[in-house]
Amino acid sequence: TRLFRIAIDGPAASGKSTTAKQLARLLGFRYIDSGAMYRSVTLKCMTMHLDPLVQRDEVAKVAQSLDIQFPDLGLVSNDGKDVTKLLRQESITRSIAPIASNPLVRQAMADKQRLMAQTLDDRYAGYLYRGRCTQGVIMDGRDIGTVILPDAELKIFLVADLKARAERRFKELKGHDGLEQIMKDIEARDLADRTRTVGPLKKASDAVELDNSHLSLDQQVQQIQQWVHQRL
Ligand code: C5P
Repeated sequence: TRLFRIAIDGPAASGKSTTAKQLARLLGFRYIDSGAMYRSVTLKCMTMHLDPLVQRDEVAKVAQSLDIQFPDLGLVSNDGKDVTKLLRQESITRSIAPIASNPLVRQAMADKQRLMAQTLDDRYAGYLYRGRCTQGVIMDGRDIGTVILPDAELKIFLVADLKARAERRFKELKGHDGLEQIMKDIEARDLADRTRTVGPLKKASDAVELDNSHLSLDQQVQQIQQWVHQRL
């Protein structure tokens, strides 16, 4: 069977996971949320009260040994326990940067991510197009097209205006934080992601850029589906 890999990278709150999930449903592909993997390591380190700036090796050990799985579309488990909701907490989002910039953590995540992108299972039907069925993987994050899957069949760099991104996040958080605060948080996270030495957020030279500031989810997914068709 053919394997088609889609790498989606982009700044915080640009709609990567929503888009990836919708595409995964439509194409019958497997979805791997790499951000959820960094969030998982952060959650575990927080419950162990590790200081990520001081206890770098202990943090790396957590990254190597934690069993992170995606049992179903949009679900994440750590060592067999469902953590999907826990991972979205703001306290985690704010604590990720020093963990995601640890080179040993990134190496451990890279190994797991590449392995997951290779091993397909029958739970995913795949995509039937012009009489041929293609199996596939969609992975989103910051360094997927550049570092993790540099030879992915389709690479997308998803962007949107800061204001559009903050407004979406504002609705998602249901008014917990103000719009100004959300904009600041998003900018701070993007800056940390763009400036780290290992695996920084960057558009791959062969990625197609998609600005969804003024697109609906459906329009965006249709555009990506067209790109998939061109490459099948
Ligand atoms: O995509 P999400 O917002 O869940 O990612 C959370 C954080 O995890 C990012 O801000 C980034 O610091 C880190 N991350 C990363 N590399 C990836 C995916 C996420 O460093 N491939």
